[in-house]
This record gives sequence, C-alpha cells and structure tokens, in this order.
Amino acid sequence: MSKELYLDESTMIVSETDIKGNILYANSDFCTLSGFTKDELIGRPHNMVRHKDMPSAAFKDLWETVKSGKTWNGRVKNITKDGDFYWVDATVYKVTKNNAEERYISVRSKPSSEQVQTAIELYKNL
Ligand SMILES: Cc1cc2nc3c(=O)[nH]c(=O)nc-3n(C[C@H](O)[C@H](O)[C@H](O)COP(=O)(O)O)c2cc1C
Repeated sequence: MSKELYLDESTMIVSETDIKGNILYANSDFCTLSGFTKDELIGRPHNMVRHKDMPSAAFKDLWETVKSGKTWNGRVKNITKDGDFYWVDATVYKVTKNNAEERYISVRSKPSSEQVQTAIELYKNL
C-alpha cells in the first residue's frame, strides 16, 4: 500500500534540469524524500518521479511558463522509489548561466493541507 510522506517545515527540495528536463543537479533533501541517490537521479528525465495522478496539463503549463521566462508555482505530487508519494509546493524558473544553455531550477517546500486539497480537486478535473 502506498503511503504519503510529509516534508518538514525546513525541507527544501532543489533540482536543476537541462532544456529537456534531464536532471543535472539534485540536493540532499530530494534524495531523502524520493529515496533515490544522486547517482540514480542525475542524468535521468525528471518524469522519473512523476506520479500518475498528476495531469499532463499541469506539466504543459509548467513548461510553457518557464520557457517563456516566467516563474511557475504550483503543487506537485511525486512518487518515491518505494512507490510512496509526497506533495510539494514547487517554484520553477529558467536560468541562463554566462550565456550558456538555458537551465531550469525547481525549489520545493511543504505545502499547506489546504493547498494540497485544492490541488487534488483541480487536478481531478483536468
Ligand atoms: C526544473 C524542473 C523540475 C521538475 N520537477 C518535476 C517533478 O518534481 N516531478 C514531475 O513529475 N515533473 C517534474 N518536472 C516536469 C517533467 O520535466 C515532466 O514534464 C513531467 O514529469 C511529465 O513528464 P511526461 O509527460 O514525460 O510524463 C520538472 C520540470 C522542470 C523543468
């Protein structure tokens, strides 16, 4: 049976991707929550932690927003290596380092239970 894991108030899950969504960097909180090691995460597409309850429309909106240079904020349900799940409040944005190729960063913290409830209702109808 899959169970819900909860972030602490101090948890800050960070990852960085290339323009295709392949993971270039993952911090320790990402490893702790997801159950994957950095070696297992880096180089893999970010959809490796996608939960089946997440609608494609949410990620379409995420990608369109960040590619246009705007910041995306939303609630995301992710799956862990063991098949459990956790909700995050994610803020995703584009960075361009020294005129190099674009990259994307996501910083995630603990959502309120109201935010999670609203997301569950919203995603059901997407
Ligand atoms: C910086 C960044 C972080 C992302 N983090 C997640 C994440 O935590 N979970 C997730 O399911 N998708 C995340 N995505 C979106 C994935 O790249 C992908 O669009 C999504 O998982 C749907 O993939 P699919 O349509 O190939 O199944 C992230 C994208 C970016 C740019």
